[in-house]
Amino acid sequence: MGKSLFINNQYNSFKKTISIDGDKSISIRTLLFGSQAYGKSNIENILLSEDILNSIKCLKRLGVKISLNKKNCFVYGKGLNGFKYKKNITLDAGNSGTFARLILGLLVKSPYYIKLIGDESLSKRDFERVILPLQKIGANFKVSDKKTLPLKIIGSPFINPIHYSENIGSAQVKSTVMLAALNSPGQTVIKAAKSRTHTENFFRYLKIPITIKKNKKYDEIKIKGQKLFKSFKYTVPSDPSSCAFFIVLTLLSKNCELKIKNVNINESRIGYVKVLNRMGAQIKIKNIKKKYGEKQADIFVKSQSNLKKINCPPSLNSNLIDEFLIIFLVAAKAKGVSSFKNLDELNKKESPRLKLGSKILNKIGIKTILTKNSIKIYGNPNLKVNKKILINKYYKDHRILMTSVIAGLVFNGKWIIDDAACYKSSFPSFLNIIKKLGYKFNLT
Ligand code: S3P
Repeated sequence: MGKSLFINNQYNSFKKTISIDGDKSISIRTLLFGSQAYGKSNIENILLSEDILNSIKCLKRLGVKISLNKKNCFVYGKGLNGFKYKKNITLDAGNSGTFARLILGLLVKSPYYIKLIGDESLSKRDFERVILPLQKIGANFKVSDKKTLPLKIIGSPFINPIHYSENIGSAQVKSTVMLAALNSPGQTVIKAAKSRTHTENFFRYLKIPITIKKNKKYDEIKIKGQKLFKSFKYTVPSDPSSCAFFIVLTLLSKNCELKIKNVNINESRIGYVKVLNRMGAQIKIKNIKKKYGEKQADIFVKSQSNLKKINCPPSLNSNLIDEFLIIFLVAAKAKGVSSFKNLDELNKKESPRLKLGSKILNKIGIKTILTKNSIKIYGNPNLKVNKKILINKYYKDHRILMTSVIAGLVFNGKWIIDDAACYKSSFPSFLNIIKKLGYKFNLT
């Protein structure tokens, strides 16, 4: 077994400015688009987490030259469908659902079967959601009845531009279809339930023909395929999902202030700021700039003792899908009963996060009412933990680990968190920043 993390009754106050690692969704997309561009793309401040390192390894297996010098990355693209296909290629996506699903969209012309595998957690996740549209587009699959990894994909020389309704609100599914559309002749039309919009922003930045008509619940995306695009330069902004852990740490501590620089503040990513401000936080977003079609800014937050419950509007769910666990901690400390609904997707992440989130709250003495897709959290503004809390068997879900660390730092108690290294799949500087803010922990 790997190392465990020990946290023991911490008190701390800080006033600091910090930088957070590059955005995971954007880093993966820079690599994928770089692999299809013509020429040498330069990506600065790329996230060097395990998900990205696995993505790089997989693209190299497909014949893409990629060089890394610290956080500076060069991708040497050979144009659309410029992969070097061979027999018996296996791609190991590790823990990355985003890379595993998106890369399938770029393999729709592969003349040979390509095998896709992942770690234990990824091997439990659903791939039917991308298999179905890709079959319509022309790809074929060998996959178990459960539609999970491992699977094999083979493409076709005849790619269909399809009309597809994406009803889950999954950016991964939408993006997979959009990437496959790059290789289709004619026009692909996607009616997509709202989800993060980075792939659309890359299309615009790279001048790949796209039109987007925004409706209240759906976006209608039209793409013209087979248009070559050139290499590009990109500096990856900080990951708002990683920032959320430190925003909540500050909020739930006493006498703390934090500034976080150059954070991606794409509307489809910062639903959690809206929710926290509705709960009584006073998070401020300043110095807004637009770069590469994405907004970035500095975020300011202070400790706040009078937090109140939220009845979280489900229309915001896809804008804070990766932040529910950390928001649950705020609900645990808020006055009143908070309610979160329509959360089926949350149990389909790196772990069943809705179930495990509720279990952690129960361990620290917070009452919850849990259903298959909803949770009510009975907040306690005086919450203090006086006992030993063991966090184990959580499928090495990076966000469960980081949420537990924050809980240990703000609610006290003696915490033992197993599989201590798993935060590295999305946020390798996480523990260093915790240290920089003045906290102590043991790793053994
Ligand atoms: C992601 C989309 C989200 C999110 C994941 C990253 C992306 O997943 O949970 O961490 O980069 O497109 P879904 O699209 O499946 O909701």
